[in-house]
Amino acid sequence: MSNEKAKMILDKNYQIAKVDERIYGSFIEHLGRAVYGGIYEPGHPEADEQGFRKDVIELVKELQVPIVRYPGGNMVSAYNWEDGVGPKKDRPRRLELAWRTTETNEMGTNEFVDWAKKANSDVMMAVNLGTRGIDAARNLLEYTNHASGTYYSDLRRSHGYEQPHNIKTWCLGNEMDGPWQVGHKTAYEYGRIAQETGKAMKLVDPSIELVACGSSNTGMPTFPEYEATTLDIAYNEIDYISLHQYYGNRSNDTANYLAKNMDMDHFIKTVTSTCDYIKAKHRSKKTINLSFDEWNVWYHSNEADKKIGPWAIAPPQLEDHYNFEDALLVGSMLITFLQHADRVKMACLAQLVNVIAPIMTENNGRSWKQTIFYPYMHTSIYGRGFSLKPILTSPKYDSKDFTDVPYIDSAAVYNEEKEEVTIFIVNKHLESSIPIDIDVRSFEDYQLVEHIVLENDDMKAVNTASNQSVSPNFNKESKLSDGSLVALLGKASWNVIRLKKNKK
Ligand code: AHR
Repeated sequence: MSNEKAKMILDKNYQIAKVDERIYGSFIEHLGRAVYGGIYEPGHPEADEQGFRKDVIELVKELQVPIVRYPGGNMVSAYNWEDGVGPKKDRPRRLELAWRTTETNEMGTNEFVDWAKKANSDVMMAVNLGTRGIDAARNLLEYTNHASGTYYSDLRRSHGYEQPHNIKTWCLGNEMDGPWQVGHKTAYEYGRIAQETGKAMKLVDPSIELVACGSSNTGMPTFPEYEATTLDIAYNEIDYISLHQYYGNRSNDTANYLAKNMDMDHFIKTVTSTCDYIKAKHRSKKTINLSFDEWNVWYHSNEADKKIGPWAIAPPQLEDHYNFEDALLVGSMLITFLQHADRVKMACLAQLVNVIAPIMTENNGRSWKQTIFYPYMHTSIYGRGFSLKPILTSPKYDSKDFTDVPYIDSAAVYNEEKEEVTIFIVNKHLESSIPIDIDVRSFEDYQLVEHIVLENDDMKAVNTASNQSVSPNFNKESKLSDGSLVALLGKASWNVIRLKKNKK
């Protein structure tokens, strides 16, 4: 045990903001085995009448995913949405340029909407601003959201979907700042097409919300100028700006790796300031919020992917097998979102099934939970309510890229309706457990429900279809009395401490 202690004061009146549940969103791209062999596999013993794997839907439901981004990702930048609607036998096979595979188009917009309903999720739809533009976007929106009596709405009805899908959240392209993107654009070029496409889309359906592309990661040479220019041009048309970020532990320096959510924190603060600068410049009353619509750990699969040849159908691309330390960083990233609940209103764990995902499947076989499934599930289930501002004193360390890294990361969520408080904590200390004393006096008559812990002696432990070696346990030693909660946070651990008001 460390000589150092952590202390926290939690008060129900110190609130950051109500958590927008869409921060627990995820992402399904037509990439690798996310769609084919992931959510959709006709002929699988668990497939339903539409070919959707029921075992996968059950796992998605366990995660309570409120919104799923679709159909890409890089893929959307050369995608013709028309290829994926209408009778399946007439759908063309195409070269999918982003991932250099063959796209069969067996799944498309309508099927994805059906799948999302079965998984209790909403759809966040992305339009192609790479090879296409205003016309394809406004036609797709007319197809999905207009009731009837026009060419595209009646086309949808002729495809068996009498009622409009009413998709509310739309992404104006994907990572348009990236030179890898088909149809990559400078900030000025992108700002203009986002503005004009957004304008046309809101004429079709004024109730939608639009997300404009920001930077693909903090290392982009155009960050944060890309955001500033895009916002400056398209401020009136858009509602959110997007952020994407993936991390990895390539140099096998775990202390440094676990500190990487500090980079994410800096990213969020920079984009927030950029939004507010443009708000001031425009003398606007409107606030642009943040959609962190791609985030995760991504590096384990990089070498394997280089060996996959082109034009296969649903090859096993981006299949990262996550280990225990990845789950800790994912937990810290989720904590970072909660700490910015006032501005981060949407976030999508990229992705959901097989492709850098919490859920894995075997073709024609089993499905299972990766290590990162657990922090994602815990925050999604218990992290709904008001994000509180914990007043935290934590011992700190320095790593290769970061100084003053708190060993303890924490966020807390107060669910007033359910009279519950949940405290999420990561202890990043690799050798020592750290005792913590949490002042919860403002939560009168609350009792400790449980202290869930994810820990493992092996930072590199992974889960497989037959072995869930990284799965949650309980710390039964934690105590709450006289408004003081005392717990021992195990070395390198993810902790979920749940309190609930006593029933009188
Ligand atoms: O999620 C995998 C890829 O990462 C997405 O297609 C792209 O948007 C990002 O670069």
